[in-house]
Amino acid sequence: MSIDYKKEIERLKEKLPVTVVGHYYQRDEVFEMADITGDSLELARKCKADNNPWVVFCGVGFMGQSVKVIAPEKRVLMPKIACCAMARMIDGSYFDDSVNYMVERGISKENILPITYINSDATVKAKVGEMGGMVCTSSNAYKIIEKGLESGKKILFVPDRCLGQNFANSMGLKSCIIGEGECDPKEADVICFNGFCSVHQLFTLDDIEFYREKYPDIKIAVHPECDPKIVEAADFSGSTSQLIKYVNDLDPEQKVAVGTEYNLVNRMRQGNTYVLSSTKPECPTMNETTLEDLYLTLKSIEDEKPINEIVVDEHTVKYANLALERMLAIN
Ligand code: 13P
Ligand code: SF4
Repeated sequence: MSIDYKKEIERLKEKLPVTVVGHYYQRDEVFEMADITGDSLELARKCKADNNPWVVFCGVGFMGQSVKVIAPEKRVLMPKIACCAMARMIDGSYFDDSVNYMVERGISKENILPITYINSDATVKAKVGEMGGMVCTSSNAYKIIEKGLESGKKILFVPDRCLGQNFANSMGLKSCIIGEGECDPKEADVICFNGFCSVHQLFTLDDIEFYREKYPDIKIAVHPECDPKIVEAADFSGSTSQLIKYVNDLDPEQKVAVGTEYNLVNRMRQGNTYVLSSTKPECPTMNETTLEDLYLTLKSIEDEKPINEIVVDEHTVKYANLALERMLAIN
């Protein structure tokens, strides 16, 4: 007999002291089962405030890890430990190399303030925390960089070169990318690691041109993980929550093309909302989690044999927590 996953998930949620968390990019059927939804910042905040001892996190690895770092007493399970491709671009040794790059070009370690996008492994966050730095998300990067600049130090921004450059541009700051052209840390305010999100690189100027030609009054809204050229050509750029608010606040007759992950844009669609791409911009890792995975993970708690538990060592928790808490305090 086949299992009715939705019914079973509801039963297990009722029975167990567990909170199911879902990022906006999750498949619809998984997203609908979540007790807490939001963008990365909201999820981190809401999980910290939540009282259940168990968290089942439907998202990508760094998100589940962040809950464990902020609330180490919680047991955090992930139906799929799927790693964000951008987060995978940097580890502790690449981070050290980036610091050394700046030191070799005349910036002392004491004069570097690292900021890591939340899309990074806990070991990178810990290195950032140890150096007095902070985490940021796409919804608070402006505030965090602004705060970082008060220190008078050079900002080392990892891992997303697009986010780093987009916010530097919006603040009128000079930025450069390590490994691309002449990146002289003495000449720049924000020095970016050369990471990126392959999903958000799918949006092109041609896509924008296509929509603007077809519907001259259309609005273009994109995530700041898009290339700076795209953000500059758009009418609005913001985190997933900010994009939802932007679209919801528009007149229902206003056409808008949105440049971010497919599941979210598809959920927003009410006739006048379009996906800003000729291809389907799906995040492969976000899409890995299925209803069956969610069911099996909840069932493993009921059976007292938890699967896919997130474990972070004490040293990493201590310093990654510093970097995350500095962000939450500013927010
Ligand atoms: P948000 O912070 O907007 O939720 O974005 C997370 C992400 O992975 C975007 O690709
Ligand atoms: Fe990572 Fe990009 Fe997927 Fe977001 S959309 S989780 S940045 S790979």
